[in-house]
Amino acid sequence: MPASARLVVLVSGSGTNLQALLDACADPAYGARVVAVGADRDDIEGLARAERAGVPTFVRRVPDYTSREHWDRALTDAVAAFEPDLVVSAGFMKLVGEDFLARFEGRMLNTHPALSPSFPGMHGPAEALAYGVKVTGATLFVVDGGIDTGPIVAQVAVPVEDGDDQASLHERIKAAERAMLVESVGRMARAGWSVDGRRVRLG
Ligand code: GRF
Repeated sequence: MPASARLVVLVSGSGTNLQALLDACADPAYGARVVAVGADRDDIEGLARAERAGVPTFVRRVPDYTSREHWDRALTDAVAAFEPDLVVSAGFMKLVGEDFLARFEGRMLNTHPALSPSFPGMHGPAEALAYGVKVTGATLFVVDGGIDTGPIVAQVAVPVEDGDDQASLHERIKAAERAMLVESVGRMARAGWSVDGRRVRLG
């Protein structure tokens, strides 16, 4: 890993995970810096956070391309132009395609607001609540071709409380998720990592 690992962060929404990374990167000892933020839509708080931090942004919208594959190639090229050591999907609500995975294999992370392999997909907090689990959480993983299936970097457990609704549970998960993301990305940036089958080792 270089002295300061280059992060490209992908967002689709409020960008609180991105903000946590931007705040951590303000300390040079953290070992990483956000060199660009990409999105699949305009006018989101995640992009505004990047702009306030003086970080370059780019947007690649699926409807602007003739096919999903074409979009995937455009996104891949946009990310690659910033030469990332790690690509962090932080609330990026699109699955990337084959080109993207081939280019960034083993160095793209995603966070999922559930304890994998439970409740993959877009509705982790709501499905955990509906199932009645007493403990859920968040999972940081290395992206593969599946939906929230990649090798696990870190997990954090979060209790479900009796009065929870989907919003309160997701907010509690997100607080734990941000801390896990910052801690793990920092360790990866400073000490490196390896992926051996489903096992991820930091350092
Ligand atoms: C996070 O809980 C992430 O796991 C999920 O969407 C949320 C994004 O939050 N996919 P934010 O945009 O980082 O605030």
